[in-house]
Amino acid sequence: MDNEQLIENINRLRREKNAIIMAHYYQTADIQAVADFIGDSLALAQQAKKTDADIIVLCGVHFMGETAKIICPDKKVLVPDMNAGCSLADSCKADDLRRFKAEHPDYTVISYVNTTAEVKALTDVCVTSSNARKIVDTFPIDAKLIFGPDRNLGNYINSITGRKMLLWNGACHVHERFSTERLVQMKLQYPNAKILAHPECKATVLALADVVGSTAALLEYAKNADFNEFLVATESGILFEMNRACPDKTFIPVPPEMSESFDEKGNLIPCACNECNFMRLNTMQKLHDCLKYETNEILIAPEIAEKAVVCINRMLELSR
Ligand code: 13P
Ligand code: SF4
Repeated sequence: MDNEQLIENINRLRREKNAIIMAHYYQTADIQAVADFIGDSLALAQQAKKTDADIIVLCGVHFMGETAKIICPDKKVLVPDMNAGCSLADSCKADDLRRFKAEHPDYTVISYVNTTAEVKALTDVCVTSSNARKIVDTFPIDAKLIFGPDRNLGNYINSITGRKMLLWNGACHVHERFSTERLVQMKLQYPNAKILAHPECKATVLALADVVGSTAALLEYAKNADFNEFLVATESGILFEMNRACPDKTFIPVPPEMSESFDEKGNLIPCACNECNFMRLNTMQKLHDCLKYETNEILIAPEIAEKAVVCINRMLELSR
């Protein structure tokens, strides 16, 4: 089936089934274009909470589908590809967190939304990169806090709040690939460009950034800033919405550490190679098929979901 046919069928199916298609900014352009709603992980959770659709097709990674299902237990939540995982979520196993909690019984657990439902069930409050600072700041400055699993986001929040949260040693393999060397090279090539970086990048990269924020925050800054050129240090899917929202501005994806593409003058060639291999498992065909056959349904054991919903609802309350 070609793309046009897929779009036609998807449009018909979503009408017939009262389905909503939600997509993260890291999805391919065709999926973002067909989605009813696109957003960062916080906005996807907020949208799931308020939709009256019977079916949610969550085009993102598995933990995003789980989050939607935990928030909307009575809805059918489908994902285009069940193998779309997340290296960050994988870096924190529930059994390891359970052990760590037992070793630190008087600590409160703050978990990034990039975690499994099982880990959320062990968490006191959830955060995304959009609201991490706001939520951490609701605790007294000397509160005993465990923050996981992203050491880079945790380290960044510690640095801007003056806290000493205990950090889980996890990271995202996509954002860890950005290097200061490459960023400096790019800045020399584009001296007027503002550097936008996601807080999952390493501290040395964040130190060079003009703006550090979630995908939605970076997008918002680019829309409102009086600057025309931006170096983007996050997954390159975000460029679709940046270019759509700001057609007169220029967005240049920062190449990862290992990228070795140079032009004849020795300048690095900007590339769109910072792609999350998990996010990119989703395709229009898979989106169409899961909606048509209602396959790849996210199911969560009730005893896990009942506990996990508490930390997500707490986050949603505190994010208002
Ligand atoms: P956002 O919450 O900024 O959308 O980030 C989600 C994510 O997976 C980043 O790698
Ligand atoms: Fe997970 Fe990183 Fe992919 Fe985001 S970009 S979904 S944190 S692996």
